[in-house]
This record gives sequence, C-alpha cells and structure tokens, in this order.
Amino acid sequence: MAAKIAPSMLSSDFANLATEAERMVRLGADWLHMDIMDGHFVPNLTIGAPVIESLRKHTKAYLDCHLMVTNPSDYVEPLAKAGASGFTFHIEATKEYWQELIQSIKSRGMRPGVALKPGTPVEEVFSLVEAENPVELVLVMTVEPGFGGQKFMPEMMDKVRTLRKKYPALDIEVDGGLGPSTIDAAASAGANCIVAGSSVFGAPEPGQVIHILRKSVEQSQENN
Ligand code: DX5
Ligand code: ZN
Repeated sequence: MAAKIAPSMLSSDFANLATEAERMVRLGADWLHMDIMDGHFVPNLTIGAPVIESLRKHTKAYLDCHLMVTNPSDYVEPLAKAGASGFTFHIEATKEYWQELIQSIKSRGMRPGVALKPGTPVEEVFSLVEAENPVELVLVMTVEPGFGGQKFMPEMMDKVRTLRKKYPALDIEVDGGLGPSTIDAAASAGANCIVAGSSVFGAPEPGQVIHILRKSVEQSQENN
C-alpha cells in the first residue's frame, strides 16, 4: 500500500489557500485533505464546492474531500464539477442509502470513501468495503470530527488493525491528532493514508514532518 501523506488544509491560511496548497505539494504532500463541514453534522462550518473549484484552478493535486455533512448526496454533483478527487462521506449520515451514493460518486469520476466517528463500531463499514460497488478507502477518525488540533485517540487503532487484517489492499486513512509523536501507533496498526493538520502547518519545517510521517508508514510496511 502506497503511503499517502495528506496535509489538512483546515490548518492552513485560508486567505492564501492556493499558495499554501502549492507549498504543501512542493514539500512532499501526496494529497491535500479538504474538510467540508456544514455546521450541522458537526458544530463547525468550513468550505464547500466554490472553494474547491477556485483551488482546482491553481493545483493539479489530488483533493481528498472529507464530507462532514448531513446530506452528502447533495454535494456529489457540485464537488465533481468543482474538481474534487476523493469523496469520503460519513457512515453515520448515510445508513440507508450508501449504495446509491457510492454509485453516484463513482459515476462522476470521484473515488468513494467512508469515514467513521470514534463512537461508531468498525463493523458498520464492512458491507461497504465488500459491496459489489465498494468504497475504496476507509477513514478512521481518531478525534471527534469538527476541529483541528485535538488529541489523538490511540484506542481507535483497534479499528485500523481489524480493517488491515481483513482487507490487506484497502486504503486506510487516519485523521485527527496525527504527528511525529503519534504516527508510529497508526502506521504499525496498518494505516497508510495519513491526514495531519496542526502538526504540519504548526511546524517550523512542515516538510520534515511530512517526511517523518511517510518514513513511519514505509517502515511499518517493511516490518510486516
Ligand atoms: C477534523 C478534521 C481533520 C483536522 C485534523 O474534524 O477532519 O482533518 O483538520 O487536524 P489535526 O491534524 O490538527 O488534528
Ligand atoms: Zn478530515
């Protein structure tokens, strides 16, 4: 599994988003993680399709969109048009209709993923990974979604281990509190896609942090 290091642009200077995106790519980011929040599914409001569309004019990078919204299906068409690459919705918001949702994400040329909040059992996403039309990524939240800069929840690593054992080739992403001091726990549990906001943007040398995150994922894979 390729390591994908995804700086969370939520911690960037939104007033200079294009410059910040360019800087992250130059410093070694594989993906740019875009946190889309609707002020309803989570108690915070961030960006939507218009901002993705503006950013897309300035970068060719993979835009890894994390939808913390109550009605993700409303965002499929606008985000596809805006140039989103990955579309990761929350299972808690989509229990009844994830099959149609995955289908529509794929048919619009985006890569479907499913995210789960800390309180949601990992078993709830098995059927989405095993479906005829499956998700291609599972995002295990390691904080309560809504804000950057929170503390990593190590107890979520059981979910990552379970998923990695069951699905050796799946993209498993972790999000929340990741940085040099927590990456080894996530990487050794089997995560290969790493979202990091405050640890990257808050560092004097963000490129070094990106490098440390990648090395940890690569070393864990060599040891397995
Ligand atoms: C939180 C978001 C994260 C957040 C991570 O709800 O999903 O992507 O930006 O920020 P850090 O890495 O600072 O915990
Ligand atoms: Zn996120």
